[in-house]
Amino acid sequence: MITHLDHIAIAVPDMEKAIKRFMEDFGITFEGTEDVEAAKTSTAFFPIDGTQIELIHPLNGEGPVAKYLEKNNNRGGMHHVAFRTDDIEGDVAMLKEKGYQFLSDAPSPGAHNSQVIFIHPKCCDGVLVELCQHSGDH
Ligand code: CO
Repeated sequence: MITHLDHIAIAVPDMEKAIKRFMEDFGITFEGTEDVEAAKTSTAFFPIDGTQIELIHPLNGEGPVAKYLEKNNNRGGMHHVAFRTDDIEGDVAMLKEKGYQFLSDAPSPGAHNSQVIFIHPKCCDGVLVELCQHSGDH
């Protein structure tokens, strides 16, 4: 079942500039960056009030975030909302049963040693929704 709002992800064309904004201008604690090879995405996390802002940027200029930025004329934007679950396989099965479609057949590795899967935005009023499970959360 879903237990937390894990993070809100923002796609950014200039990671360094965006990190500076959140850290220096907004004064939010910067936890660090992590490259997620499986998702061809570079990430930066800002924990705040029990959840996190995740900045995402293409890793080596390719992958889903590169496509997103291309479509948006290289402007950034709100990319996805991630809910944390303690049983990702069970929730995927339950949601498939209800007719939800996913962007992949099975969860794949995400940041922070997690497993992640995305629900198709057409099933969620146009919002890309990620389900993630952190190791040790089950
Ligand atoms: Co995410």
